[in-house]
Amino acid sequence: MAERKPLISGNWKMHMNHLEAIAFIQKLSYALDQADYASADVSIHPPFTNLRSAQTVLDADSIPIALGAQHCHWAESGAFTGEVSPAMLAKLAVRYVIAGHSERRQIFGEADEQVNRRLKAILGAGMTPIMCCGETLQEREANQAEARIAAQVDAGLAGLKRDQVGAMVVAYEPVWAIGTGHTATPDDAQAGCALIRDRVRANFGADAAAGVRIQYGGSVKPANVAELMAQPDIDGALVGGASLEAESFSRIVRFRLQ
Ligand code: PGA
Repeated sequence: MAERKPLISGNWKMHMNHLEAIAFIQKLSYALDQADYASADVSIHPPFTNLRSAQTVLDADSIPIALGAQHCHWAESGAFTGEVSPAMLAKLAVRYVIAGHSERRQIFGEADEQVNRRLKAILGAGMTPIMCCGETLQEREANQAEARIAAQVDAGLAGLKRDQVGAMVVAYEPVWAIGTGHTATPDDAQAGCALIRDRVRANFGADAAAGVRIQYGGSVKPANVAELMAQPDIDGALVGGASLEAESFSRIVRFRLQ
Protein backbone atom coordinates (compact mmCIF):
# COMPACT_ATOMS: atom_id res chain seq x y z
CA MET A 1 0.00 0.00 0.00
CA ALA A 2 1.20 3.51 -0.79
CA GLU A 3 2.95 5.34 2.02
CA ARG A 4 1.07 8.59 2.55
CA LYS A 5 3.23 11.48 3.70
CA PRO A 6 1.29 13.72 6.09
CA LEU A 7 0.30 17.16 4.82
CA ILE A 8 -0.02 19.93 7.40
CA SER A 9 -1.76 22.97 5.92
CA GLY A 10 -2.28 26.40 7.44
CA ASN A 11 -5.49 28.10 6.29
CA TRP A 12 -5.01 31.75 7.20
CA LYS A 13 -8.51 32.74 6.11
CA MET A 14 -8.82 36.57 5.96
CA HIS A 15 -5.87 37.27 8.24
CA MET A 16 -2.47 38.95 7.80
CA ASN A 17 -1.30 41.47 5.19
CA HIS A 18 1.68 40.84 2.93
CA LEU A 19 4.23 42.34 5.35
CA GLU A 20 2.95 40.17 8.17
CA ALA A 21 3.06 37.20 5.81
CA ILE A 22 6.75 37.78 5.05
CA ALA A 23 7.61 38.04 8.75
CA PHE A 24 5.56 34.92 9.50
CA ILE A 25 7.25 32.83 6.82
CA GLN A 26 10.71 33.84 8.01
CA LYS A 27 9.83 32.95 11.58
CA LEU A 28 8.30 29.63 10.57
CA SER A 29 11.32 28.70 8.49
CA TYR A 30 13.62 29.29 11.48
CA ALA A 31 11.45 26.99 13.59
CA LEU A 32 11.47 24.07 11.11
CA ASP A 33 14.39 21.94 9.95
CA GLN A 34 15.08 19.30 7.32
CA ALA A 35 13.84 16.49 9.56
CA ASP A 36 10.49 18.26 9.84
CA TYR A 37 10.14 18.64 6.08
CA ALA A 38 11.18 15.01 5.63
CA SER A 39 8.41 13.81 7.93
CA ALA A 40 5.59 16.06 6.74
CA ASP A 41 4.70 18.22 3.75
CA VAL A 42 3.79 21.74 4.84
CA SER A 43 1.59 24.26 3.03
CA ILE A 44 0.44 27.76 3.89
CA HIS A 45 -2.69 29.34 2.41
CA PRO A 46 -2.53 33.13 2.75
CA PRO A 47 -5.04 35.58 1.26
CA PHE A 48 -4.56 36.27 -2.47
CA THR A 49 -2.92 39.65 -1.80
CA ASN A 50 -0.01 37.90 -0.03
CA LEU A 51 0.76 35.20 -2.55
CA ARG A 52 3.33 37.09 -4.58
CA SER A 53 5.27 38.25 -1.51
CA ALA A 54 5.09 34.77 0.00
CA GLN A 55 6.31 33.18 -3.21
CA THR A 56 9.26 35.58 -3.39
CA VAL A 57 10.42 34.79 0.15
CA LEU A 58 9.96 31.03 -0.20
CA ASP A 59 11.84 31.07 -3.46
CA ALA A 60 14.67 33.41 -2.44
CA ASP A 61 15.47 31.42 0.70
CA SER A 62 14.69 27.99 -0.84
CA ILE A 63 12.21 27.22 1.93
CA PRO A 64 10.47 23.87 1.25
CA ILE A 65 7.04 25.10 2.33
CA ALA A 66 4.40 24.76 -0.39
CA LEU A 67 2.32 27.77 -1.30
CA GLY A 68 -1.43 27.32 -1.22
CA ALA A 69 -4.56 29.31 -1.99
CA GLN A 70 -7.93 29.28 -0.24
CA HIS A 71 -10.22 29.41 -3.25
CA CYS A 72 -10.32 30.08 -6.99
CA HIS A 73 -12.73 30.36 -9.90
CA TRP A 74 -13.01 27.57 -12.48
CA ALA A 75 -12.66 29.69 -15.63
CA GLU A 76 -9.26 30.51 -17.04
CA SER A 77 -10.13 34.18 -17.54
CA GLY A 78 -13.20 36.27 -18.26
CA ALA A 79 -15.79 38.68 -16.92
CA PHE A 80 -15.89 37.39 -13.32
CA THR A 81 -15.43 40.48 -11.16
CA GLY A 82 -13.58 39.74 -7.95
CA GLU A 83 -12.43 36.25 -8.91
CA VAL A 84 -8.97 34.72 -9.43
CA SER A 85 -8.29 31.95 -11.94
CA PRO A 86 -6.38 28.69 -11.45
CA ALA A 87 -3.92 29.74 -14.17
CA MET A 88 -3.08 32.90 -12.23
CA LEU A 89 -2.39 30.86 -9.12
CA ALA A 90 -0.30 28.29 -10.97
CA LYS A 91 1.84 31.10 -12.38
CA LEU A 92 2.69 32.09 -8.79
CA ALA A 93 3.86 28.54 -8.07
CA VAL A 94 0.79 27.77 -5.97
CA ARG A 95 0.71 24.05 -5.37
CA TYR A 96 -2.46 23.38 -3.32
CA VAL A 97 -5.86 25.06 -3.57
CA ILE A 98 -8.61 24.61 -1.00
CA ALA A 99 -12.05 24.09 -2.55
CA GLY A 100 -15.42 23.94 -0.84
CA HIS A 101 -14.38 25.14 2.60
CA SER A 102 -17.45 25.20 4.85
CA GLU A 103 -17.16 28.98 5.21
CA ARG A 104 -17.47 29.32 1.43
CA ARG A 105 -20.36 26.89 1.40
CA GLN A 106 -22.20 28.56 4.28
CA ILE A 107 -21.37 32.25 3.87
CA PHE A 108 -21.05 32.42 0.08
CA GLY A 109 -23.56 29.75 -0.88
CA GLU A 110 -21.12 27.49 -2.68
CA ALA A 111 -22.75 24.25 -3.87
CA ASP A 112 -21.26 20.82 -4.55
CA GLU A 113 -21.57 21.35 -8.29
CA GLN A 114 -19.39 24.46 -8.09
CA VAL A 115 -16.87 22.65 -5.90
CA ASN A 116 -16.69 19.97 -8.58
CA ARG A 117 -16.04 22.52 -11.33
CA ARG A 118 -13.35 24.15 -9.20
CA LEU A 119 -11.64 20.80 -8.60
CA LYS A 120 -11.48 20.07 -12.31
CA ALA A 121 -10.05 23.52 -13.03
CA ILE A 122 -7.43 23.23 -10.26
CA LEU A 123 -6.33 19.84 -11.59
CA GLY A 124 -6.38 21.17 -15.14
CA ALA A 125 -3.93 23.89 -14.12
CA GLY A 126 -1.57 21.29 -12.64
CA MET A 127 -2.26 22.02 -8.96
CA THR A 128 -3.56 19.80 -6.17
CA PRO A 129 -7.02 20.41 -4.72
CA ILE A 130 -7.81 20.14 -1.04
CA MET A 131 -11.55 19.46 -1.07
CA CYS A 132 -13.28 20.14 2.24
CA CYS A 133 -16.35 18.30 3.44
CA GLY A 134 -18.09 17.79 6.75
CA GLU A 135 -21.43 17.91 8.49
CA THR A 136 -23.05 20.72 10.48
CA LEU A 137 -24.12 20.28 14.10
CA GLN A 138 -27.76 20.00 13.04
CA GLU A 139 -26.93 17.28 10.54
CA ARG A 140 -24.92 15.44 13.16
CA GLU A 141 -27.71 15.63 15.72
CA ALA A 142 -30.21 14.42 13.14
CA ASN A 143 -27.98 11.40 12.38
CA GLN A 144 -27.35 12.68 8.88
CA ALA A 145 -23.59 13.16 9.17
CA GLU A 146 -22.62 10.07 7.17
CA ALA A 147 -25.10 10.77 4.39
CA ARG A 148 -23.96 14.37 4.16
CA ILE A 149 -20.26 13.53 3.95
CA ALA A 150 -20.90 10.79 1.38
CA ALA A 151 -23.01 13.14 -0.74
CA GLN A 152 -20.32 15.84 -0.66
CA VAL A 153 -17.62 13.37 -1.64
CA ASP A 154 -19.70 11.83 -4.44
CA ALA A 155 -20.73 15.16 -5.94
CA GLY A 156 -17.43 16.95 -5.37
CA LEU A 157 -15.31 14.24 -7.01
CA ALA A 158 -17.77 13.33 -9.79
CA GLY A 159 -16.15 12.80 -13.15
CA LEU A 160 -12.55 12.89 -11.89
CA LYS A 161 -10.09 10.22 -12.99
CA ARG A 162 -8.88 7.57 -10.56
CA ASP A 163 -5.28 8.77 -10.60
CA GLN A 164 -6.37 12.38 -10.02
CA VAL A 165 -8.32 11.36 -6.94
CA GLY A 166 -5.45 9.19 -5.72
CA ALA A 167 -3.09 12.18 -5.84
CA MET A 168 -5.37 14.79 -4.27
CA VAL A 169 -6.32 15.79 -0.76
CA VAL A 170 -9.69 15.68 0.99
CA ALA A 171 -10.20 17.41 4.33
CA TYR A 172 -12.79 16.17 6.80
CA GLU A 173 -13.89 19.29 8.63
CA PRO A 174 -16.95 18.84 10.84
CA VAL A 175 -18.46 22.33 10.77
CA TRP A 176 -19.20 22.26 14.50
CA ALA A 177 -15.48 21.89 15.22
CA ILE A 178 -14.23 24.80 13.09
CA GLY A 179 -13.10 27.83 15.06
CA THR A 180 -15.12 26.69 18.06
CA GLY A 181 -12.45 25.05 20.17
CA HIS A 182 -14.50 21.82 20.02
CA THR A 183 -12.14 19.36 18.36
CA ALA A 184 -13.67 16.09 17.23
CA THR A 185 -12.42 13.22 19.37
CA PRO A 186 -9.73 11.16 17.65
CA ASP A 187 -12.34 8.40 17.21
CA ASP A 188 -14.87 10.74 15.60
CA ALA A 189 -12.22 12.28 13.35
CA GLN A 190 -11.00 8.81 12.34
CA ALA A 191 -14.57 7.69 11.60
CA GLY A 192 -15.16 10.67 9.30
CA CYS A 193 -11.86 10.17 7.47
CA ALA A 194 -12.45 6.41 7.13
CA LEU A 195 -15.88 7.10 5.66
CA ILE A 196 -14.32 9.39 3.05
CA ARG A 197 -11.71 6.77 2.16
CA ASP A 198 -14.42 4.08 1.86
CA ARG A 199 -16.38 6.31 -0.44
CA VAL A 200 -13.30 6.97 -2.59
CA ARG A 201 -12.67 3.21 -2.70
CA ALA A 202 -16.25 2.51 -3.78
CA ASN A 203 -16.18 5.16 -6.52
CA PHE A 204 -12.59 5.10 -7.72
CA GLY A 205 -11.04 1.83 -6.57
CA ALA A 206 -8.41 0.60 -4.12
CA ASP A 207 -5.43 2.49 -5.55
CA ALA A 208 -7.18 5.85 -5.35
CA ALA A 209 -8.29 5.07 -1.78
CA ALA A 210 -4.75 4.10 -0.80
CA GLY A 211 -3.26 7.24 -2.32
CA VAL A 212 -5.67 10.03 -1.41
CA ARG A 213 -4.50 12.05 1.57
CA ILE A 214 -7.24 12.80 4.07
CA GLN A 215 -6.74 15.66 6.49
CA TYR A 216 -8.70 16.38 9.63
CA GLY A 217 -9.59 20.01 10.30
CA GLY A 218 -11.38 21.73 13.16
CA SER A 219 -9.64 23.26 16.20
CA VAL A 220 -6.38 21.38 15.65
CA LYS A 221 -3.77 22.59 18.16
CA PRO A 222 -0.30 21.52 19.34
CA ALA A 223 -1.96 19.77 22.30
CA ASN A 224 -4.28 17.53 20.25
CA VAL A 225 -2.47 17.02 16.94
CA ALA A 226 -0.47 13.93 17.92
CA GLU A 227 -3.47 11.83 18.91
CA LEU A 228 -5.34 12.86 15.77
CA MET A 229 -2.38 12.05 13.54
CA ALA A 230 -2.03 8.63 15.20
CA GLN A 231 -5.31 7.53 13.58
CA PRO A 232 -4.87 5.23 10.59
CA ASP A 233 -6.98 7.23 8.12
CA ILE A 234 -5.80 10.73 9.12
CA ASP A 235 -2.98 11.87 6.86
CA GLY A 236 -2.61 15.46 7.92
CA ALA A 237 -4.32 18.52 9.31
CA LEU A 238 -6.00 21.62 7.92
CA VAL A 239 -5.35 24.21 10.59
CA GLY A 240 -7.08 27.57 10.92
CA GLY A 241 -6.61 29.58 14.12
CA ALA A 242 -3.48 27.78 15.32
CA SER A 243 -1.75 28.33 11.96
CA LEU A 244 -1.57 32.11 12.50
CA GLU A 245 1.29 31.95 15.02
CA ALA A 246 4.58 30.53 13.77
CA GLU A 247 5.20 29.01 17.18
CA SER A 248 1.98 26.99 17.37
CA PHE A 249 1.97 26.07 13.67
CA SER A 250 5.55 24.78 13.83
CA ARG A 251 4.64 22.67 16.86
CA ILE A 252 1.74 21.18 14.88
CA VAL A 253 4.07 20.40 11.96
CA ARG A 254 6.36 18.67 14.48
CA PHE A 255 3.47 16.57 15.81
CA ARG A 256 5.67 13.52 16.05
CA LEU A 257 7.65 15.25 18.84
CA GLN A 258 4.59 16.24 20.92
P1 PGA B 1 -9.80 26.09 12.95
O1 PGA B 1 -10.16 26.17 11.39
O2 PGA B 1 -8.51 25.31 13.06
O3 PGA B 1 -9.65 27.52 13.39
O4 PGA B 1 -10.92 25.38 13.63
C1 PGA B 1 -9.99 25.06 10.54
C2 PGA B 1 -10.44 25.40 9.14
O5 PGA B 1 -11.40 26.15 8.97
O6 PGA B 1 -9.83 24.95 8.13
